[in-house]
Amino acid sequence: MNKLLYLAAATSAFVAAALAATKCTTASAPCSREGYCNSGPSFCMWGLCNVQNSYNSTSCWNAEGCSSQTVTFDSSADAIAINSYTGNPNTNPYVSIFEPNNAVVENGNLVLQMTYDASQKKGFGATVDSSHTIQYGTVTARIKTASIAKGVVSAFIIRNDQLGDEIDFEWVGKEPTQVETNFFYHDELVYTNSVYYPVGGDSSADYHDYTIVWDPDYVTWMIDNKAIRTLKREDTYDSSAKVYKFPAAEGRIGFSIWDGGNSGAKGTEDWAGTPTPWTSNTVYKMYVDSVTVKCTGTDIAPSDSSAGASSSASTDNPDNDNSDSSDSNNDNSNASGSSSDNDTSDTSATSIGASADNTSTGSKTDTGASSGSETDTETSTNTAAGNSSNGGSGSSSTGDSDGESSSTAISSPGKCHVVAVTQVVPV
Ligand SMILES: *[C@@H]1O[C@H](CO)[C@@H](O)[C@H](O)[C@H]1NC(C)=O
Ligand SMILES: *[C@@H]1O[C@H](CO)[C@@H](O)[C@H](O)[C@H]1NC(C)=O
Ligand SMILES: *[C@@H]1O[C@H](CO)[C@@H](O)[C@H](O)[C@H]1NC(C)=O
Ligand SMILES: *[C@@H]1O[C@H](CO)[C@@H](O)[C@H](O)[C@H]1NC(C)=O
Ligand SMILES: *[C@@H]1O[C@H](CO)[C@@H](O)[C@H](O)[C@H]1NC(C)=O
Repeated sequence: MNKLLYLAAATSAFVAAALAATKCTTASAPCSREGYCNSGPSFCMWGLCNVQNSYNSTSCWNAEGCSSQTVTFDSSADAIAINSYTGNPNTNPYVSIFEPNNAVVENGNLVLQMTYDASQKKGFGATVDSSHTIQYGTVTARIKTASIAKGVVSAFIIRNDQLGDEIDFEWVGKEPTQVETNFFYHDELVYTNSVYYPVGGDSSADYHDYTIVWDPDYVTWMIDNKAIRTLKREDTYDSSAKVYKFPAAEGRIGFSIWDGGNSGAKGTEDWAGTPTPWTSNTVYKMYVDSVTVKCTGTDIAPSDSSAGASSSASTDNPDNDNSDSSDSNNDNSNASGSSSDNDTSDTSATSIGASADNTSTGSKTDTGASSGSETDTETSTNTAAGNSSNGGSGSSSTGDSDGESSSTAISSPGKCHVVAVTQVVPV
């Protein structure tokens, strides 16, 4: 439910200079993603960027770290297109990583849209990732899904793109009253990891709170504050491999909508329902009303930046400090966690020192370094822009194989990714 597919955005000058390479050898295109090299957030953001294959050890941006906060999508800055992102997670807590961007902030919601791409004969969706990272904590997203027609897939996940650890809520259009809970360790497909539960109504008719409680020892999925499933780490032990196959790697929170019904892969189509009904002006929409993150451990204090107008500290924050005076030292130097300010009136957005680029906690492991995952090796074999097979290990049949040869869609059950590449030069 998570494999990467690839997108070639024919019009994106932003990426026109991307070069296919196993290893990036020029300082001007230092960041490696899916076998291509370029600069900019699409290629350099932590998690998207492959450290090993990048120009040098500092080419990829560092992980931003976790921030306990609620984002309510009242400001357009709360989610922006990746090619507008300058690397300040406090200003832009969510980033739409598809090109062209099909996500908007509207009426207090993050709205992920899917429209029809006639050239591909299928929907073109959206994927929005948190610009902060998380490694354990609780994430609640208030969501109204796009399950109004078969084939339409909505997803809320936490994922490490390089390692393939992932925790999922997914909704398939053919089952509007159900939600699928799932998890992955290193992108390994284990069919029994997936369990469906009733939402308690039509997930596309009403908002519900979907919560992932992610602890080093367990994951609990909740709907409207009621636990529906707990996965214990101890129950994921693989005795032959001698490893706990439990999602543990730092990742990003992600939301996506994509067309499973016209994916061209039978397993995916059976899983999502098929065909997805389209007219030329159909728009499917997934609504995210708010996202609340409570970090475990190191917590970068959310800043009161411009986006802070809609990003307040989480409610259980002991330091609910509304005094303006104490807010002037609003920087990221205090990573001790509990000191998040709750002051949306602060206008000192520009004082957020280090945040113009990568605000690292310094305590995070850059899991990207360990990748070498199949998604990378695979794309390096692409011979044409966007002609990718599915992201690597996904030769599986159920809901996971995409086998796309399209030049546009990157979508995967659970995750959509863009590596917008034009004029690529094969290795
Ligand atoms: C990586 O390359 C950049 C650009 O040339 C350079 O500024 C930086 O010092 C290099 N870092 C390392 C660790 O070599
Ligand atoms: C932040 O302060 C406002 C105003 O005092 C208060 O209404 C709100 O509950 C506080 N939020 C949190 C998360 O403490
Ligand atoms: C960081 O925040 C904690 C908790 O509010 C506080 O005790 C500590 O003094 C702060 N440290 C710095 C460097 O501001
Ligand atoms: C990213 O963070 C590293 C380590 O903190 C720092 O050395 C580097 O200069 C930062 N990069 C940018 C672009 O700010
Ligand atoms: C993708 O590559 C395969 C193998 O080279 C080729 O047969 C197919 O036509 C290509 N598809 C596209 C859309 O370019």
